[in-house]
Amino acid sequence: MYQTILTELAEGILTITVNRPDKLNALNRIVIEELAEVIGTVYDNPEVKGAILTGAGSKSFVAGADISEFLELDGYGGMELAKKGQDMVFSRIEHSSKPILAAVNGFALGGGCELAMACHFRLASDNARFGQPEVNLGLVPGYGGTQRLTQLVGKGKAMELMMTGAMLNASEALQLGLVNHVTTAEELMPKTRTILQSIITKAPIAIAKVIELTNLAAIGDPNGLTKEIHAFGELFNTTDAKEGAKAFLEKRPAVFTGN
Ligand code: COA
Repeated sequence: MYQTILTELAEGILTITVNRPDKLNALNRIVIEELAEVIGTVYDNPEVKGAILTGAGSKSFVAGADISEFLELDGYGGMELAKKGQDMVFSRIEHSSKPILAAVNGFALGGGCELAMACHFRLASDNARFGQPEVNLGLVPGYGGTQRLTQLVGKGKAMELMMTGAMLNASEALQLGLVNHVTTAEELMPKTRTILQSIITKAPIAIAKVIELTNLAAIGDPNGLTKEIHAFGELFNTTDAKEGAKAFLEKRPAVFTGN
């Protein structure tokens, strides 16, 4: 169905695998277009309750934007590349009302680190490497790295990583809060699935609100607390919130319907 992406839907979870292992899954224009399509499926297909993004092979998640497309770019082309990628893929992942997790199975450099950071949170295998090496090419991150890396690891560390282009290993990424869990390569997908499976059994509207409000906090929205009050109130109008309280009081598992 896609040239550069594999998808598999099982038990409500869509696994999206960037599939250019010979190029360490670098993001060329086709990958970006196909990722945009597949994110559209996450948004629109009611059978998809959540998604996992990963890379094909054992070496790389995504080793960045495809550098072989850079020589032909001028200022306008570069801006268009960054804007299209951000609008069609990275921002839509971040703002998806359904949870999207990254399973980082190797190099996550440049656009790869940015792709992982656009996800709601990240797990990594112990061979994962993270970095924003754009300065080595005379560039800056263009798919949201300056903003999301700063949100995730703080200003000083983000500055250092983007100025030096240095790579972090998985345990350093864990220590900085860039990833939530580190596993062996074999455990990465099962553990990511287990966590996502647990999330998608909860009330989808509540999960969507968590994503929306936490995204507001990350950008320092001054109205975040007020918006939380409104969301808290709105949720009392949902059937799922009634079911959640009822199930607790009746000492049984809640059955949420997304209403
Ligand atoms: N864009 C295009 N091609 C890439 C790529 C990228 N971002 N990253 C890796 N590749 C290609 C290599 O050109 C090579 O292709 P080839 O076999 O046709 O020559 C193939 O993937 C394997 O990469 P290679 O460099 O041989 O692997 P390595 O193990 O020696 O090094 C890295 C791995 C990740 C350290 C190295 O590939 C690298 O530095 N990549 C670029 C990372 C980067 O700067 N990303 C940000 C871009 S803005």
